[in-house]
Amino acid sequence: MLLVTELSSEHNASSVGGSAERRPVVIRHAEPDDAPALGALLASALWAKYRPTLGRRAADALALVIADDLSASGHGYWVAAQDGRVVGAAHLAVAEDAPPHGVARRLANVIGWPRTLWALGALSILAHGPLADDEAYVGELAVAADARRQGVAALLMARLDRAARERGKSHMTLWVTDDNAPARALYAQLGFSDRLARHWRVGRLVFGSAGATLMEKQITVAVSPESGTT
Ligand SMILES: CC(C)(COP(=O)(O)OP(=O)(O)OC[C@H]1O[C@@H](n2cnc3c(N)ncnc32)[C@H](O)[C@@H]1OP(=O)(O)O)[C@@H](O)C(=O)NCCC(=O)NCCS
Repeated sequence: MLLVTELSSEHNASSVGGSAERRPVVIRHAEPDDAPALGALLASALWAKYRPTLGRRAADALALVIADDLSASGHGYWVAAQDGRVVGAAHLAVAEDAPPHGVARRLANVIGWPRTLWALGALSILAHGPLADDEAYVGELAVAADARRQGVAALLMARLDRAARERGKSHMTLWVTDDNAPARALYAQLGFSDRLARHWRVGRLVFGSAGATLMEKQITVAVSPESGTT
């Protein structure tokens, strides 16, 4: 695994590595130009979620929806870039951020209305619901297959953790399907614990997993009387 260090820079970037041999990874807020790469990465890494719902044009459909989201201020997408290529992505949602508008219309432009209606219905099985005021919700965590086990996801999650604290949130939440052992191992290592189990029948047919688990991590900084913080 690559050494994980954090850069303090004006651009709020973080990196793993630091030498040419270690191929540094920079974590940054996503920009509108990242939309095609984000669409391709999410369609590929989250194949079990997007192939049965959005179909074979999932990457294009996601890129279009994400492009619109990225052009709005306050979007929640972060990317991990290595040698200028997007190798990881994650999204952080908080209650104050407005949900994207016109998603159905944009999807329909690429995959047509029948598949759009099917996709939105099926994806609603995975929906988290309204966010609490003190909650930061992690979604769309994905790392390119050839960049895994190098600490990229851990670094993205660390940056999301910091972003959540900066926005005054006290806990982070996420859903993970029960058959996703790598992701469950990652979240457990980062201090997330199971909060709620959801079992589904339709979800099993569509996504191939028997259910999903809501995981949670408290992130409030404890205050100690002597030192101020612990
Ligand atoms: C899950 C995923 C994001 C992990 O990304 P990653 O960059 O490879 O993860 P990291 O290298 O940061 O791993 C950190 C820790 O997570 C755990 N972990 C990650 N992948 C693992 C695997 N395949 N098997 C077991 N543990 C794993 C390990 O504890 C690892 O630490 P270690 O390498 O020191 O043992 C990646 O496999 C992925 O994109 N999967 C497909 C998309 C997905 O499932 N997203 C999550 C949706 S909820």
